[in-house]
Order: sequence, then structure tokens, then C-alpha cells
Amino acid sequence: MGKYPKFFMEHFQNPRNVGEISNPDGVGTVGNASCGDIMQMFIKVNGNRISQATFKTFGCGAAIATSSILTERIKGSTIDEALEISERISKEILSELPEKKIPCFNLATNALKLAIEEYRCMEVGLYEKLMKQAKKS
Ligand code: FES
Repeated sequence: MGKYPKFFMEHFQNPRNVGEISNPDGVGTVGNASCGDIMQMFIKVNGNRISQATFKTFGCGAAIATSSILTERIKGSTIDEALEISERISKEILSELPEKKIPCFNLATNALKLAIEEYRCMEVGLYEKLMKQAKKS
């Protein structure tokens, strides 16, 4: 257990933001092919800012700690900032993890990307619907 940074272990032992969001604006679900574990990330967006971010996983401690850190840091950020934060966390943490744990880490960042993609698709759908309504009137 001595291989992990202290803050990482703290998030593993006391994970934040575990669970689902009711009526999320985006959900990303990914699996880790090397172990078969699954991660789901939920986001709620309010005025282009992520007001809530939560996760559920069957993954290991590395997946739990990463998800806890990521969901904490993206709260209050814009969608673009959340993606930048995810990149920053990757640089900050990946070099400190055993190589075999990198796919576990990637579960959280990939699930977030999918949740954001879903959110953006819904936004585009809403935009198209509004444009159709505007043409009719
Ligand atoms: S071993 Fe499955 S997510 Fe880490």
C-alpha cells in the first residue's frame, strides 16, 4: 500500500461523491477490459457548470480513489474546464501509480468524457428542437 501518494490513499479510504444522481444531464459507462470492472460517472450541469458529479464502480481502490478525486475537482467547473482538470489529474497521478493500475485510473477519466459527450449531445438535440420550433413560428 506504500506505493500510492497520501492524498490518493485518503480518497480511497474516504471516497466522496459515491452514488447516482437522479435525472442526470450526462452518464458515462465504461469497462476495464483487463479486469472486467465497470465504472459509471454521473454529471448534473447548471448554466454550463457542473453542479454535481458522482460515480459508481465495481472497480478497485485505484478506480475508487481516482473517481473521488476527479468528481471533487470538477464540481463547479465548466464542461471545458472539467476536461482540462481531468487531463491535469492524469499528469499529476499517473506517474505515481503502478503501471498495471493505469487502466483502473482511466476508467474515471473515460467515464467522465462519455458523460460529457452525452450531455453535449442532449444540448445539441435541444438546440435543433428549438431551431425547428423557431422556423415554424
Ligand atoms: S482492478 Fe478492476 S478497476 Fe482496478
